[in-house]
Amino acid sequence: MLSRRLYTTASRFIAATKPTDGFIGAIGNTPLIRIASLSKETGCEILGKAEFMNPGGSVKDRAALFVVEDAERRGLIKQGGTVVEGTAGNTGIGLAHVCRAKGYKCVIYMPNTQSQEKIDLLKMLGADVRPVPAVAFDDPGNYNHQARRFAESLDNGVWTNQFDNPANRQAHIETTGPEIWAQTGGIVDGFTCATGTAGTFAGVTRFLKDASDGRVKSFAADPPGSIIYSFVKSAGREMIRGGSSITEGIGQGRITANLQPDIHLIDDALKIEDADTIAMLYRLLDEEGIYLGASSALNVVAAYQMAKILGPGKTVVTILCDGAYRYQSRLFSRAWLESKGLLDAIPEHLKKYIVLA
Ligand SMILES: Cc1ncc(COP(=O)(O)O)c(C=O)c1O
Repeated sequence: MLSRRLYTTASRFIAATKPTDGFIGAIGNTPLIRIASLSKETGCEILGKAEFMNPGGSVKDRAALFVVEDAERRGLIKQGGTVVEGTAGNTGIGLAHVCRAKGYKCVIYMPNTQSQEKIDLLKMLGADVRPVPAVAFDDPGNYNHQARRFAESLDNGVWTNQFDNPANRQAHIETTGPEIWAQTGGIVDGFTCATGTAGTFAGVTRFLKDASDGRVKSFAADPPGSIIYSFVKSAGREMIRGGSSITEGIGQGRITANLQPDIHLIDDALKIEDADTIAMLYRLLDEEGIYLGASSALNVVAAYQMAKILGPGKTVVTILCDGAYRYQSRLFSRAWLESKGLLDAIPEHLKKYIVLA
């Protein structure tokens, strides 16, 4: 039997949750992590939703589950069928897991610019991975159009269409948003994150705006090379691409159907440079012990900037989309950082983390 002292020590690690129903039951209900160093520096509460703790390792597990269950409900796929998606990685990983758990085949089209770690993982999860040249959305060879055409050629197959399928945004209206609201007891003043499909940003924004009668401010965070920043800043008149980014899974050249219904809810936009993103990625590892991918680090920079804009005493929430594991051969490589002109962005005392040549 545990001694009383040992039991008391152990009990802070024991959450009163019941066993989950398989992989799918383990999606969501992620912790909301207070980022102590940045909270202290800004006088705000800066909180990151630890989506890297989903069972497939990213925020996209939620969207994967919702688009598949939406297809089931609408009778678009039957037992043994094939789920087809165009994805830069994490949605594919979520879908591959969900498909194995539900007995579907999974075919993933992706731009051939994505990291080898993500491609390998998809294959290990049993997905049929089809890397295709990275061309713009208006080119018929774009990975999304190839995914749609292939699904259309199948008898029992569905293109889950994450970019323009509102079931993606619905996942965050029904799960991520309510979780943030419950975890903060409704004490949240700002929300910010970057957009890929924009399912996360739009769904959480919609829920928090509704729950707070419009009080919660929402800022869209954007990497270089994406049009969202210029679109918001020009009140919809401009869509300037300009530049490129090391971040994966975010950045957009158009307004997706997941973002369209909520575009009027956006209060402002923040453009986050790669130099700030990579410096934050290393800082969070050093000061907080959190090992994040670049889109998450960008989101934290945005939360930090939003906190400074809103002023002391406010609570700002962002999304920690995935861990660095899927990108570590790049993010911790001296040669890669040099090739991107980012070596000097990392402060001297943090360069000890650059362990790969
Ligand atoms: C690492 C990462 N961060 C952020 C996002 C963006 O999420 P959303 O598609 O909900 O905008 C994605 C999407 O795939 C991603 O893979």
